[in-house]
Amino acid sequence: MSFTAEWLTLREPADHAARDPALLNAFRTRITPGTRILDIGCGTGSTLRAVARPTRWTLADRDPALLAEAARRHPDARTLRIDLANLSTLPSADMVTASALFDLCSPAFIADFVTHLGGRTGLYAALNYDGTMEWSDPHPQDDAVIAAFNRHQRRDKGFGPAAGPEAAHTLAARCERAGLRTQLAPSPWLLHPGPLHTAFVTGVAEAAAETGVATQDWLAARLASAGSCRVGHLDLLALPDG
Ligand SMILES: C[S@@+](CC[C@H](N)C(=O)[O-])C[C@H]1O[C@@H](n2cnc3c(N)ncnc32)[C@H](O)[C@@H]1O
Repeated sequence: MSFTAEWLTLREPADHAARDPALLNAFRTRITPGTRILDIGCGTGSTLRAVARPTRWTLADRDPALLAEAARRHPDARTLRIDLANLSTLPSADMVTASALFDLCSPAFIADFVTHLGGRTGLYAALNYDGTMEWSDPHPQDDAVIAAFNRHQRRDKGFGPAAGPEAAHTLAARCERAGLRTQLAPSPWLLHPGPLHTAFVTGVAEAAAETGVATQDWLAARLASAGSCRVGHLDLLALPDG
């Protein structure tokens, strides 16, 4: 599964507005100028821009085009081409960050990844889709389309069958079991008609249609609507003591 810089750029303002401010600030208080932060599935570096603390960032992704854009925008950061499916190649770090990543990952990968953190490395993982979408103007097909989209979210995205909407809770349970002090907080997108809403509902309709649900009427109604949409996400912060 690949992501374009255009899509990541389009969603970034909504992502930054959605991040839970308390968890983001709690994470920032743990950063000193020498802290080594590894951002996994970095895309073009959205988490670096959201955290906005100059420190020793490593931006890691498997997509060379996204990494090139991250390097262009953040020449002080190190960039690293990596396939996360092979955890043994991850460099060591004091903190790991991620955004819009863990819902792509399988429960087995999440378990192995938290084991890899070893109870000593903190994790700030923002914007994990939680399976919910609510429009201000409900449509009779909403529930069927959302259910189909969520089934599609659980398909293999390169890590085995994905945790999808359960990712944040699966990750939180694993972090707690590893002894990390773990918090979850909602970070919903609040979308109004415009380019992001258009791209989002089009993507939802395409994914749902791939599972066999007819989505043309739903998509036409959603594109014509002046309603707003809340898309649920969860942010996670898991820190070692001290
Ligand atoms: C939804 S994008 C999020 C990007 C960025 N964190 C953001 O919030 O804008 C998911 C990112 O994970 C990366 N990714 C997916 N599978 C990966 C893998 N197996 N190894 C490394 N990166 C991966 C993609 O290339 C993409 O950049």
